[in-house]
Amino acid sequence: MLRELVHRVANNFATVAALIRAKANLVGDAEAKAVLNEAIEQVSVMARVHRRLHVGDKDVALDSESFVRELCADLKASMARGRPVSIECVAIRRPLLLAHAIPLGLIVTELVTNTLKHAFPDCRRGTVRVRLEGSNGGLRLTVEDNGTGFESHGRANGRGQGQALLRALSQQLGGCLEFKSTDRGSTFRLDFPHSEAADPPAPARLRIATPLMPT
Ligand SMILES: Nc1ncnc2c1ncn2[C@@H]1O[C@H](COP(=O)(O)OP(=O)(O)OP(=O)(O)O)[C@@H](O)[C@H]1O
Ligand SMILES: [Mg+2]
Repeated sequence: MLRELVHRVANNFATVAALIRAKANLVGDAEAKAVLNEAIEQVSVMARVHRRLHVGDKDVALDSESFVRELCADLKASMARGRPVSIECVAIRRPLLLAHAIPLGLIVTELVTNTLKHAFPDCRRGTVRVRLEGSNGGLRLTVEDNGTGFESHGRANGRGQGQALLRALSQQLGGCLEFKSTDRGSTFRLDFPHSEAADPPAPARLRIATPLMPT
């Protein structure tokens, strides 16, 4: 019964993504198209999570390794298509609960999308490295690029909702997001507690991220 429900939710998210894609194809304006494409990626994360969920006796979880790898391959095929930017991905194999998988997937999507939008202007070549590893009993996500860094174009180069989204999602994970940028690229690192038990991260364990962007 639960398995069937999870499957249906996955199909519903896939349908929503297809509907937005159909609208994106009708839009001529490049910026509007880009915004819709980002929304498609975000909804696709939800579909992917539900498609990969295994329904166990006590919880509903998915395998972090295939989830993060597939997500990166998908971002490469969609957001980085035709660009000389490679997306490399290494991920540890751990069961990820639904409550962790959705924020983690959305964080990877936002960070990788940001590198493609901002770090490699003018068809610049580059590499984005995504790594999920064990750290201090929890998990650590690192997204690193060898692009322009933030300094080259300052903070006011876009809509900037991504920052707020990243903070909110990191809090959902009870995690701590740190950020470093030079003229040789940027690195985001998120440490978050990981439990294989059915409980989602408790709000009491939330740690607020150190400043995400340079001030
Ligand atoms: N990897 C990166 N390399 C260089 N600059 C970056 C990178 N990530 C973000 N930035 C800079 O930080 C700014 C804020 O990022 P943020 O994700 O909040 O906004 P956005 O991507 O412009 O818009 P939105 O996320 O709302 O679609 C960007 O406009 C850009 O100038
Ligand atoms: Mg962004």
